[in-house]
Amino acid sequence: MNVTDAILSRHSVRAFLDKPVPKKLLETMLETASRAPTGGNLQPWHVYVAGGEVRDRLVRRVAEQLPLNPLGKQAEYHVYPPKLQDPYRKRRFKLGEDMYAAIGISREDREGRLRQFARNWEFFGAPVGLFFTLGRDMQQGQWADVGMFMQSFMLLAREAGLDTCAQESWASWHELVREEMGIPDDQILFCGMAVGYADSEHPINKFTADREPLEGFATFKGF
Ligand SMILES: Cc1cc2nc3c(=O)[nH]c(=O)nc-3n(C[C@H](O)[C@H](O)[C@H](O)COP(=O)(O)O)c2cc1C
Repeated sequence: MNVTDAILSRHSVRAFLDKPVPKKLLETMLETASRAPTGGNLQPWHVYVAGGEVRDRLVRRVAEQLPLNPLGKQAEYHVYPPKLQDPYRKRRFKLGEDMYAAIGISREDREGRLRQFARNWEFFGAPVGLFFTLGRDMQQGQWADVGMFMQSFMLLAREAGLDTCAQESWASWHELVREEMGIPDDQILFCGMAVGYADSEHPINKFTADREPLEGFATFKGF
């Protein structure tokens, strides 16, 4: 698989098969992903990998708390700007509409939407969950570094026949994740990630999230 194929075939998968992912494969992928570039070679990332009983306990513990917190708790950082402006607000709205339409959940079906959203905290059925953290003192540049690490990992996953879904929604459960995964207080939980083999027949995996055309985001001068 070449890089273009990996990039074009990566999409956020939200239904996985109950098929285990070997630990050795995850280790190799993480090791390779750590070749991602970082400002000053800081390599600011930490990764916590949840499998087996630990993964199941996390899912169970969130489920227990869901009735009181159906949207999760407060993350430790603003996942989105507090006042998301257009065009970003519209794009976010469109993603939700397309995703729920793909699985036949209407706009009025608040319960159904909440239920689907809560599937985040089951890793959408994936057998492995990753958590990406970095030091609280790290700045914007280092958060971008962690993003590059994550994308590198997601592309390597494609090469290995695996799929992923990055999940900021796990930031809502930082206390619980911190406790289960043994994350020190001086690290902030940025993002989770579901990793596994896609259930390609599931309708939620069949829609494609839009992208803006090149002219919408790239400016060329001097050509
Ligand atoms: C940092 C990050 C966090 C994300 N968090 C979530 C999440 O919590 N739940 C979810 O279903 N998708 C999540 N996504 C997936 C995005 O919705 C998705 O990348 C975007 O809609 C583009 O779709 P694509 O990944 O299929 O190309 C996240 C993506 C990124 C990069």
